[in-house]
Amino acid sequence: MRRPVIAGNWKLNNAEREAVELVTALKTNLSDVDTVDIVVCPVFTVLAVVHDVLLESNIALGAQNVYWEDAGAFTGEVSAPLLKEIGVEYVIIGHSERRQYFGETNQTVNKKIRAALRHGLVPIVCVGEVLEEREANKTFDVIRRQCEECLAGLNADELKKNIIAYEPVWAIGTGKTATSQQAEEVHKFIRGLLAKMGGKEASEAVRIQYGGSVKPDNIADLMAQPDIDGALVGGASLKADAFIQIVKNSCAVTR
Ligand code: 13P
Repeated sequence: MRRPVIAGNWKLNNAEREAVELVTALKTNLSDVDTVDIVVCPVFTVLAVVHDVLLESNIALGAQNVYWEDAGAFTGEVSAPLLKEIGVEYVIIGHSERRQYFGETNQTVNKKIRAALRHGLVPIVCVGEVLEEREANKTFDVIRRQCEECLAGLNADELKKNIIAYEPVWAIGTGKTATSQQAEEVHKFIRGLLAKMGGKEASEAVRIQYGGSVKPDNIADLMAQPDIDGALVGGASLKADAFIQIVKNSCAVTR
């Protein structure tokens, strides 16, 4: 059975003081959770301090981006070995905001995934359609292309190590969550694609998170779906109470 994973994507929020306050509250209130993996993804500049607060906790650390080269003349970039060195275990790759504002493409996502895997980081690979694509019934075409291009060339063992985050762009930060049926339909489709790419065993092992306006009151419904293995949470991960409740409510779901 796949172990659910709930990750908080803090985006460009939380300076050191807020970050420490938030993870201290999470550490205290989630210490008894042992059925889901919990991840927080702060900005680069507070990763090290958050790592120290999280020592001896059941909460893991993730970054929000990574460059594909290890070192060299690449001003402004941060590489996988540098993240690994400070205790980062997961990295979000290809978030729709990076695709929209920073020129991320399926091809750059593919290079970043390979770099992450090379250094033992778990990629959280984001895919998702925009509203116009959904309305034009192109959701499955878009998702197919994103999955095939982002995960191109990975063998079954490499494929298994990824987490896929399905984040319909129209549901991000809008308060409009996909219904659990809408989400499940796409998650199931993604699992089918993964089976074609890496075989059934690999596809059954990959965890597929849902992201987009996840809140304490909709997580249980989402998690009750057979192919939804957790959530990538934006806004609600910035508030200790909400994130704690999301994790707790997801533990309560029998899968
Ligand atoms: P919201 O939860 O704020 O909609 O953001 C989702 C997201 O983009 C997580 O990566």
